[in-house]
Order: sequence, then C-alpha cells, then structure tokens
Amino acid sequence: MTNIFQEEVEQLLSKMTLKEKVGQLNQIPAPKDRTDVNWLKEKIRHGEIGSIILAFSETAGNDPQRDTDVEIYNELQRCAVEEGPNGIPLIFGRDVIHGHRTVMPIPLASAGSFDPELVEKCYSCVALEAANDGVHWTFSPMLDVCHDPRWGRIIEGPGEDPYLASVMAKAIVRGFQGEDYSAEGKLAACAKHFLGYGASEGGRDYFRTELSDYTIYNIILPPFRAAVDAGVATVMSSFNDINGQPVTASRKYLTNLLRGYLGFQGFVVADWAALSNLKRQGIGENYEDCSALALRAGLDMDMVDEFYHRALENLVRSGEIPEELVDNAVRNVLRIKMAKGLFRQPYTIKQPVDRRNHLQNAYDLAAASMILLKNDRDLLPLSKDCCVALAGPFKQERRALLGSWVLDGKEDETEHFREAMERTIHGHSGCVICDPDDTAEDAVEKVFASADVVVLALGESHLVTGERNSVADIGLTPHQVELARKAHRNGKKVVGVVFCGRPVALQSVEPYLDAILCAWHCGSCTAKAAADILFGDAEPGGRAPVTFVRTSGHIPMYYNTTPSGLPVNGYYGENSEKNYLDNPGKPMYPFGYGLTYTSFSYSSVTVDTEQMSMDDLRNGGKFHFTVCLRNTGARAGTETVQLYVRDRICSVMRPLRELKAFCKRTLQAGEREDVSFAIGYEELGFYTSDGSYTVEPGAFDIYIGENCLTANMTTIRVTA
Ligand code: NOJ
Repeated sequence: MTNIFQEEVEQLLSKMTLKEKVGQLNQIPAPKDRTDVNWLKEKIRHGEIGSIILAFSETAGNDPQRDTDVEIYNELQRCAVEEGPNGIPLIFGRDVIHGHRTVMPIPLASAGSFDPELVEKCYSCVALEAANDGVHWTFSPMLDVCHDPRWGRIIEGPGEDPYLASVMAKAIVRGFQGEDYSAEGKLAACAKHFLGYGASEGGRDYFRTELSDYTIYNIILPPFRAAVDAGVATVMSSFNDINGQPVTASRKYLTNLLRGYLGFQGFVVADWAALSNLKRQGIGENYEDCSALALRAGLDMDMVDEFYHRALENLVRSGEIPEELVDNAVRNVLRIKMAKGLFRQPYTIKQPVDRRNHLQNAYDLAAASMILLKNDRDLLPLSKDCCVALAGPFKQERRALLGSWVLDGKEDETEHFREAMERTIHGHSGCVICDPDDTAEDAVEKVFASADVVVLALGESHLVTGERNSVADIGLTPHQVELARKAHRNGKKVVGVVFCGRPVALQSVEPYLDAILCAWHCGSCTAKAAADILFGDAEPGGRAPVTFVRTSGHIPMYYNTTPSGLPVNGYYGENSEKNYLDNPGKPMYPFGYGLTYTSFSYSSVTVDTEQMSMDDLRNGGKFHFTVCLRNTGARAGTETVQLYVRDRICSVMRPLRELKAFCKRTLQAGEREDVSFAIGYEELGFYTSDGSYTVEPGAFDIYIGENCLTANMTTIRVTA
C-alpha cells in the first residue's frame, strides 16, 4: 500500500504549510450545537482539523449519544473541501462497535458463533447503515485477547483464544471494509487497542500490564497480525503501559512491532486523550513533551487532546523534532483518506435503508451465538403447550439486551424477553405466561406452583460491562440466586436464561437450574432468538469463546495454559480438583463448550501420514486428519468440530491444547459425515521471544472433538 497514492500524497504534501500538516493529525469531537459548528468551521478553514470523532463524551460506550447528523457533517466537509487551504476532506470516525441502528451481538458473543462468514455478513450490514449516516471510519474491531472476565471491556473483544480471535478479526475487517473500503456502504476499520490493554492487572480498566515478549507474540499479537493481513486501514494505540512503557509513547510497539514487524501501512490514532494521560503516567511533563514522545513513537493522529495542534509547529521550528516525522504521519493519514475515496466523494448522500435483511442476519447471529450450557433430561426445548411462569429482573429489560457500546441502536425498538416469549407461543392452547411480581413473596411462590416450568430471565446490566465498568465479583446478584432457589424449591423444572456481557460465574445458581441458556447481550434480536431457542424454533449455536469460571476467585483461568510441573496440581482439565481446597479447580464450562438439541458422536481420529520430515512440512506438506461425525440424536443439529494441537516436547513449555482449526457441520438425525482438516507448518509452531516463528521436530498430539477437553486424539511426528 505504500506505493498506492504515493505520487498524489507527495504532491499534496509539497503544497502544505507546516500548520496545515499538523492540522491533519488533529482529531476533535463532533459539534454539540450550531455555535460549535461555526467555531469548528473557522478552524477547518485554517486547516487545523483533519478528523472529527462523532462522539459527545469520552465514555460513549454506555452514555446515551446524540444521533448522527449528515447535514452538519456535509456542511463541515464542504467547508474543508471548498474553503480549507488545500481542499483536504475530513474523515469522520465513530464507535460503530457491534452495530449501528441494527445491533448485532456483542463481539464476545459473536466470537462464540464460530461462524466467520455470518459475522462478516453482519458487519457489512453495519457498515452500510453507518456509512449512510455519514460515518467514514469505525473504531472497531477491538482485538484484545482477555483472560480476565472482571474487565468490563471483555464484551468488546474476541475472548481468550488467539486463533479464534484472528479468525474473527479478519471477518470483521472484511465485513466493514469489503474488498475496497472506498466503495459505497463501506467503512475504514480500526484494529484496537494496540497493545495488551486486555491484560490489565486484576481486570481493572486502564491499568498496568506485565507482558513477556513470548506472550505478546503468541497470545496478544495474532489477531492484530490477522487484521493487518486483512488490510485494516487504521490502528488505535492502547491506554495501558506494558512493563512500565506506556504504549502511546512506545516506539517499540507502535513502530518497530506494528509497522516493522507486522507491516502495517495505515495510520495510528491515539485513544481518547491518551496523550495527556502520558502526564499522569509520569512520562511527560507538559503537552510538548507528550507530543514529542508520541510522534517519535509513531502515533499519527491525536484524539481530542489537541496536544499536537498546540505543540508540533514549535517543536519543529525549534529543531527538537524533524519536520520529516510530521510529514510521515501526514503521509499515513492522507493515504488512508485517499484510499477511502474521500477526495473523490467527500459527501454522504443519505438514502433510505431497508433493514429487513440486516435484522435477519442479526437474528441468525444471535441464535448462533447463544450457548446452551445445561439441559438436564432434555428439558429444552419446551413444548408450546405448557404453562410457563416467567420471572427475573431481565424479563422486561430492553436496553441491556443491546449490550454496551451501542450509540445508534434504539431501546424502544428492542423487544424484551417477555414480549418475545408471548409472541412465540401465541395461538398455542394451554401455554400461558404468568408473570409474578418478583417482590411479592407469596405471589411468586403461587405462580411458580401453578406453572409447569419456571423460566428465569437472569443476568447483568450493560452498565456493569464496557469501558470503566469492571467488577470484582462476576457472579449473579444474591437476589437472582434466591429467586432461582425459590423456583427450584417448588419442585418445578427451572430454566435460567442469562443475559450477560461476560461469562458470569454461575456456581451459586447452577444447582437450582435444570437448563441454562447463555443468551448474552445479543443486540436487536436477543429476545426473539432466546425465546425461539427455548421453544425449539431455533438452535442454540454458540460455543464458549472464553472459559466460564465457577467463581471470581478462579480468575484467571483459560484453557490454553501450560502444564504444571507437579502432578498434584494440574490446571483446568488435568488434576484440577487439587487446585483449591475450597472449590473444584475445574472450570464451570470449558472453552469451546456448548450443547445442542441433539447429540453427536465422533469416531477416533485418523491421519493420512503419521510422520513427516521438517523439510516436507516447510515446503507446504500437510497432515490430513479425519473424524466421522454422526448425529446420534433425534433431530437435526449443528456441531462445531474443533481441532486442538499440543506440542509434546519443546524447548519452551507449550500449552496443553491450542485451537488451530474448526468448522461447523449441520447433520440430520442419524446422518454421518467425514470431517477433515489439513494441518501444516503454520499450525504446529510458535513464536520465540524475538518474534521468529519456529516448528520444532518431535511428537504432536492432535485432538478433534466437541470442546477443548476432548480426549479424542492421535499423535503425529515431525522428524528433523
Ligand atoms: C476510548 C476507548 O478506549 C476507545 O475504544 C474508543 O474508541 C474511544 N474512547 C473513542 O470513543
């Protein structure tokens, strides 16, 4: 991409004054009213602004935001193009994280769909809606691999696994950008937060991280590599420090790793006010220090601080910063503006959008993301001819179902769970929904007693997820546990539908629930998908994209950990009973786990060749593994077949299992199908601490099955 638009960029750059160049690196918030518009236009006329972020507060994730206003954006754009010094268009950015007017499931949930094609389709609908509202650039996908569900922002990311995260990174970037993001209805994407933000200590937002290079290369970096390979236009730097080095000011990360190592060629935008944070982080004393540090590090655009705007001209004139550094940053910004087609078509022509197909995709992805965690004696699906008592704090909740980071979805357009349940069973004789007032003790008990089955709408608010919303305890509230206990005490079958943004700890409530559906905050169609799954009109398609711990004290717990040296103290699957004296050390539900309404069996794993030389492997040789998958139940269903690798003997400790491939198969009752995977050099190796990729000869265990704890395996060997 460096060569693309090179001539045009150089020509333009040669005409720009230093002040105008600095203006291109300045992003400021959208106007709040007309007074702001006039003031902004004045700045634009003087070439002082390169970009506008369409947000009105720094925590746009959960604060209500104003609607977009294409008329105003076009007016500002006209000012830039017609009255600005060189007619350089503005680029408008917005946090279009997992939806626009149509809200898709939170990214954590949709990672659990294990369905990149559907995810891509959904994000292309989102792009179309947002582009039509004047957005050029979205601050998504968020690619922070996370091992700590206390962190509120776990909702925005792909979960705990670097491979799944990489697959989703590609899908989302493609969905937003398509083949060419200058096309109508496409957005420039932004991979964030580079780097390590999801590893903040204790899950405390904005907090410090300690990360080894080995962990960075193998766990944290892969989804960013995937996004860069997919051509992501921009990257956002992260607030955190890594081992004492704030990323905003780190040349090691923003230039050497991102541009040098990954080959990124777009531009890097700071996170909100991250330059001024450098003062608090004790790295810079004033706006000049902070600007010099960030620019030298490789940070191209300053988000809302206006530090570059105030400092860079003087820094260049005094000789402290070479102008070439400013020029490089401007080149990066201009190149993306050109690639986005803004010079060709700077304005938005708003058109009516038919969202029916978008809602259908949102529904499909919601159902594909919801995880059936428990289903004792096949309680689900429910018959439409039974009497359901519906209770729980989320039965009539609308906003929470959309999830955090929803700027444009409408609460009043969002169906709540009770409405969806009633609609689903409408017209079926015998099925009634009785809705006890949770606070009136006797009434609740009576309604529970009169019903055939109790459905509890449980979960957590979107206000305890997202930015600045970490929690120390990820369990359900005592009130919800008590409600479940009461329902269970009646001797009735109890279904828990859990609307959540993180893998909530369910240990205290699980004994009272016969069936549990993790319905997440799945966006516009959450309620309908959950109700349809409950009555069997849709399949629960999701698999855990992250480990469900039993209790907060288990955190961190993730599947792709290294083995323990001592046999008494294994972790996760191995000897895990010994980990804690007061609690089973096993997860509540492991990574990759999820039930279906049917059952599947796997034949043992076969491989075409058990041994291959390293040379053959390097030259593209593959091991081909096959299992015969069979639907052994009474109805059609979809299985997510997962392949994990373990490098048995290696010079560094390697994880017990690592996901390296997966696919989904839908089989009719009784049907069987051979499922094959080809595994080669790319899947069998790892990154050393200096970032080089290597495969070591020796034995590898290959597991294929229904989740990360499958025992179905074979062993292959790579000879030196
Ligand atoms: C801060 C968040 O960390 C980031 O993800 C978001 O894109 C910006 N604010 C802009 O709203």
